[in-house]
Amino acid sequence: MSPLSPRLEAIVDALPLRAGMRVLEIGGGPGAAAKAVARRIGDGHILMIDRSAKSIALAERNAAEIDAGLMSVRCVAVEDFELLGNEEPYDLAFAVRVGTLDGRHPEVRQIALQQVADALTPQGQLFIDGGTPLRQIQLPPRRS
Ligand SMILES: C[S@@+](CC[C@H](N)C(=O)[O-])C[C@H]1O[C@@H](n2cnc3c(N)ncnc32)[C@H](O)[C@@H]1O
Repeated sequence: MSPLSPRLEAIVDALPLRAGMRVLEIGGGPGAAAKAVARRIGDGHILMIDRSAKSIALAERNAAEIDAGLMSVRCVAVEDFELLGNEEPYDLAFAVRVGTLDGRHPEVRQIALQQVADALTPQGQLFIDGGTPLRQIQLPPRRS
């Protein structure tokens, strides 16, 4: 089990998680928060994406949550993220300390927000750090 820092524990505690939900974590390497979420959503599922292959490999290490089918990982940048053909949309997305979403790169941010919106259910929500401790980000209308 990956250790969860007090910083990430506060984030996970603040997420509106419920049993059975599908969660997307963006830039979650090396997977500590995603693994903690996986243990809190019953028979739900969390997909952790990260553009770094090294971060994905670290998340896959000793991941009982992946073995149990509660979590999966994918090496992809959020601005390129799309649901696979048979992939159900996600109920909630979150990102912590990911520059693409926190305003440091406004031009890529708009593309990324559209990709996230398209991968969520109509009621889906995106949270990022920088609030108390989270803030919800307004998403553009879904295209799909
Ligand atoms: C500063 S680390 C934060 C990791 C973790 N969320 C945390 O708070 O401990 C940022 C992570 O986001 C990933 N990342 C940065 N930009 C990304 C993007 N556009 N799409 C997907 N992952 C990204 C990096 O590879 C890295 O693993």
